[in-house]
Amino acid sequence: MANLISQKYALLVCLFSLALAHVHSKPQTSQPYRTAYHFQPPKNWMNGPFIYKGIYHLFYQYNPKGAVWGNIVWAHSTSFDLINWKPHVAAIYPSKPFDINGCWSGSVTILPGGKPVIFYTGIDSQNLQVQNLAYPKNLSDPFLTEWVKIPQNPLISPTLGNQVNATAFRDPTTAWLGPDKHWRLAIGSLRNQSGVTYLYRSKDFLSWVKAKHPLHSEKKAGMWECPDFFPVLKTSPIGVDTSTYGPDVKHVFKVSLNDTWKEYYTIGTYDLDKDVFVPDNGSVDSNLGLRYDYGKFYASKTFFDSSKNRRVLWGWINESSPEYYYKEKGWSGLQAIPRTIWLDKSGKQLLQWPIAELKKLRTKQIKLPSTVLKGGSVHPVLGVTAAQADVQVTFEISDFNKADVLEPSWTDPHNLCSNEGALVKGGLGPFGLLVLASKDLEEYTAVFYRVFRGHTHNESVVVMCSDQSRSSLNEKFDKSNFGAIVKVDPVHEKLSLRSLIDHSVVESFAGDGKASITARVYPTLAIHGDTRLYTFNYGRESVKIVGSAWSMRTASINQSK
Ligand SMILES: *[C@@H]1O[C@H](CO)[C@@H](O)[C@H](O)[C@H]1NC(C)=O
Ligand SMILES: *[C@@H]1O[C@H](CO)[C@@H](O)[C@H](O)[C@H]1NC(C)=O
Ligand SMILES: *[C@@H]1O[C@H](CO)[C@@H](O)[C@H](O)[C@H]1NC(C)=O
Ligand SMILES: *[C@@H]1O[C@H](CO)[C@@H](O)[C@H](O)[C@H]1NC(C)=O
Ligand SMILES: *[C@@H]1O[C@H](CO)[C@@H](O)[C@H](O)[C@H]1NC(C)=O
Ligand SMILES: *[C@@H]1O[C@H](CO)[C@@H](O)[C@H](O)[C@H]1NC(C)=O
Ligand SMILES: *[C@@H]1O[C@H](CO)[C@@H](O)[C@H](O)[C@H]1NC(C)=O
Repeated sequence: MANLISQKYALLVCLFSLALAHVHSKPQTSQPYRTAYHFQPPKNWMNGPFIYKGIYHLFYQYNPKGAVWGNIVWAHSTSFDLINWKPHVAAIYPSKPFDINGCWSGSVTILPGGKPVIFYTGIDSQNLQVQNLAYPKNLSDPFLTEWVKIPQNPLISPTLGNQVNATAFRDPTTAWLGPDKHWRLAIGSLRNQSGVTYLYRSKDFLSWVKAKHPLHSEKKAGMWECPDFFPVLKTSPIGVDTSTYGPDVKHVFKVSLNDTWKEYYTIGTYDLDKDVFVPDNGSVDSNLGLRYDYGKFYASKTFFDSSKNRRVLWGWINESSPEYYYKEKGWSGLQAIPRTIWLDKSGKQLLQWPIAELKKLRTKQIKLPSTVLKGGSVHPVLGVTAAQADVQVTFEISDFNKADVLEPSWTDPHNLCSNEGALVKGGLGPFGLLVLASKDLEEYTAVFYRVFRGHTHNESVVVMCSDQSRSSLNEKFDKSNFGAIVKVDPVHEKLSLRSLIDHSVVESFAGDGKASITARVYPTLAIHGDTRLYTFNYGRESVKIVGSAWSMRTASINQSK
């Protein structure tokens, strides 16, 4: 991952490794923001997650020494259910000239015969970014704890007739097999301000040749990191192996933009003749494009879970605090709940939903019977551990004609939600949830809907907002709001909203997975037992609500026995 990032976070990671030990012995209140069911290593840009013989492996970027440039290793945890995790020793760490200054992100590919291999970016002795291969030492070890770097490394070097930018050449994808039985993989780069994903081909996985054309590129996009390229089925939510192609398949191309710290994806066709990705007409790259998550979510990666035939998305959730604050609490960054991801029936966007296994942590269901929420009302949801909960509700609007007309200038939902926080009354909405709220609502994070009518036609525009402006009495945090358009028809469909609340993280899903927003917040009053959960409707018109809330158990994450 980014040069800059690794340096920037090196120290924090180091502090974490010291801090982790006493986190558990300290009284709970000293760590109000420590999450209970999110995977929370010190620092984690995604590396290749995968499944091998029924065990899930997660690698993340970690600096055990911390204080100096580099030293980034692949820390390693395993799980049987993607919820509870067991820590292992680092899988890959700097030891050879081809990775002595860092072992950055990469991906796992399962070779024929079920053997996993890791392709990762090494920072070599000259600080160039090169691509290396490693394999498990002992395939009979179910946890694959030891990894061996092959002596031929680096397999792909930026200087060997490749003419690629040697300081912006990283994050190899999972490799896939083409119809010609040759392997392909893609690597993120920057070429004269253009974001580029180079394509490499190989017959034997060892000797790699750069294709004449990149898999995909875009002018003025800046560095493209953490590219991800995978097939989705047109007519089924079932996930498929990365090497799948054919008439039933569309392809998804995702990049993380180093310049803005945002991720975008496009849906299109993988043109096998030209070996390039062609976005569909209307599916645009970057800035105006689609995002997995319109809040805090970066450096994500998917993998095909062959045990459940699904594609699973993992993303990294950044802090919203100044850096000195990381040190104060001794850790930073965590992992979003893994999400199943598939193509919407429209073919125009992806859908996502927290993996089904998360339900195992649900306990003590509180039913919210069908109720009319009058305009201007707030209702407590009682009986739930509101700092650690899963809430799922649906709203039904009464009369679409009461919707406000969308201002023509409001083309960006992010701006809309920034201008119209939860306290701005509308015709239909805001209605939704007040989470991580204090008793008297001095603090809360508001996750809500607004329904508008288009300014030229009578069409509906549904916006999902996450308003952090009152999330904490502490003024030092980044409390920017987030917004997303949800492609649902509020006249004929109910508006669903699910929020996963975990002390300092709120992951929310609207429109049955059509849009999601992750917020990172640090309440000062609404912590532990003092946290409340409310439903609200600050719009003029009433809406109907029904749903459930569950207290969530604490998962067992990286606790060494
Ligand atoms: C490989 O792993 C298996 C299972 O953990 C173990 O029994 C065996 O001794 C290991 N082999 C070697 C050569 O370490
Ligand atoms: C980058 O731009 C320079 C100047 O415009 C040009 O000479 C060079 O060929 C370009 N490099 C690439 C890789 O496109
Ligand atoms: C190569 O990457 C560096 C960042 O590592 C960037 O500053 C430089 O402009 C890039 N060069 C070209 C030709 O794109
Ligand atoms: C990444 O973004 C930062 C600014 O956020 C910039 O300073 C750096 O040059 C960028 N690196 C690349 C490789 O584009
Ligand atoms: C793409 O869509 C636009 C409008 O939706 C249309 O004008 C244009 O002709 C389309 N282009 C192609 C290549 O289909
Ligand atoms: C992390 O969040 C902080 C505060 O919101 C922001 O300034 C920073 O750019 C973010 N970094 C990344 C890598 O997303
Ligand atoms: C707008 O659409 C709604 C729902 O389809 C319909 O009930 C209403 O009559 C329409 N209003 C106008 C002014 O066309």
